[in-house]
Amino acid sequence: MNLDWEELRGHAREVRRRAYAPYSRYPVGAAALVDDGRIVVGCNVENAAYGVALCAECGLISSLVAEGGGRLIAFTCVNGNGEVIMPCGRCRQLLNEHGDADLLMDTPEGVWTLAQVLPQSFGPEDLSRVSGQGAVQPESLP
Ligand code: THU
Repeated sequence: MNLDWEELRGHAREVRRRAYAPYSRYPVGAAALVDDGRIVVGCNVENAAYGVALCAECGLISSLVAEGGGRLIAFTCVNGNGEVIMPCGRCRQLLNEHGDADLLMDTPEGVWTLAQVLPQSFGPEDLSRVSGQGAVQPESLP
């Protein structure tokens, strides 16, 4: 696939301007390409109760799911200077639920895969391996 990383980074740089980061003063913007061609974005949203802060990736994943879901194909996130940064460990786990092992990750050292930046990940299939513990889908909702 011909992926325009600069365009994807452009979306991340744009949304970082909307970040709410008055405490850390470290705005972050994230953007991802979805398998249906959509671009989803997110920015960090902090809180006076510091520990409640939401990373940019949390917003991105919420948008992905609220807008109909899909699998992530490529992901980037940037700091206030617009430089590519690595998602924190918790956010790699969030991405892991919605991207495959070959999800392309923009990193300061080039494009890596999700499996490379989150080796031996824990995921939904680990739950399924234990009988009766599989993920429940909301398809049965009225
Ligand atoms: N942050 C993100 O939004 N994503 C990351 O992957 C790393 C950290 C945010 C959280 C906090 O608002 C600020 O960056 C400083 O840690």
